[in-house]
Amino acid sequence: MKLLLNVDHIATLRNARGETQPDPVTAALIAEQAGIDGIVVHLREDRRHINERDVRLLRELITTKLDLEMAATEEIIKIACDIGPELATLVPEKRQELTTEGGLNVIDNISSLKDAISELHNNDVAVSLFIEPDLKQIEAAAEIESDFIEIHTGVFANTISEEEQFDELDRIRIAIKHAKKLGLGVNAGHGLDYKNIKIFRELSDIDELSIGHAIIARAVFVGLKQAVREMFDLLNNKS
Ligand code: PXP
Repeated sequence: MKLLLNVDHIATLRNARGETQPDPVTAALIAEQAGIDGIVVHLREDRRHINERDVRLLRELITTKLDLEMAATEEIIKIACDIGPELATLVPEKRQELTTEGGLNVIDNISSLKDAISELHNNDVAVSLFIEPDLKQIEAAAEIESDFIEIHTGVFANTISEEEQFDELDRIRIAIKHAKKLGLGVNAGHGLDYKNIKIFRELSDIDELSIGHAIIARAVFVGLKQAVREMFDLLNNKS
């Protein structure tokens, strides 16, 4: 099972001061040095974190895989076809949301998604659809020739009781099996963290996990001591 890192939050921090640091491209390169299998970024319609220049630089500089999360709008599809990520993950996008809130409704949007997939395929971009672990949605994804699905694990991540968690995991397990049977690649992500990840070891049919918030949040804490020490060293003429 491969692990991809979403670096959107690095861009959020950069944009908070309107400056150039921290740079999401540098973060991607450091993650590659640590062995990450690919980089995920979400180019949103409002460009609230990642911008087009970031995606172009990532395309040039990373040596792993670029997974571009995106809404299936005309503008973003055009950019994706031009930049050529290895994978375009189509997600629903709402302006007011803090993060992607749920999976795509493939059944209700079958014709527009089919057109988006065929345009991306014509430009050699493989496509994944971010959906709930729902068998009908998976069948619709296969019908319109998506290459992958990404199972939305947000409901699983938000479960409180063990019983709820077990039930949702079961839904995910069944969804993976069904998708594989239909010839789809299976990715998963959203809300995965250092507490709930272990259970995914047994879901070895998942091709790729996409994790952002937990890893970037942890990076702040594991790096903070060193950052403070480096500033003291500079103040005290030690470096
Ligand atoms: N997959 C998709 C489609 C997402 O929208 C996100 C959030 O950007 C993730 C995975 C990663 O979620 P998290 O940041 O909670 O790890």
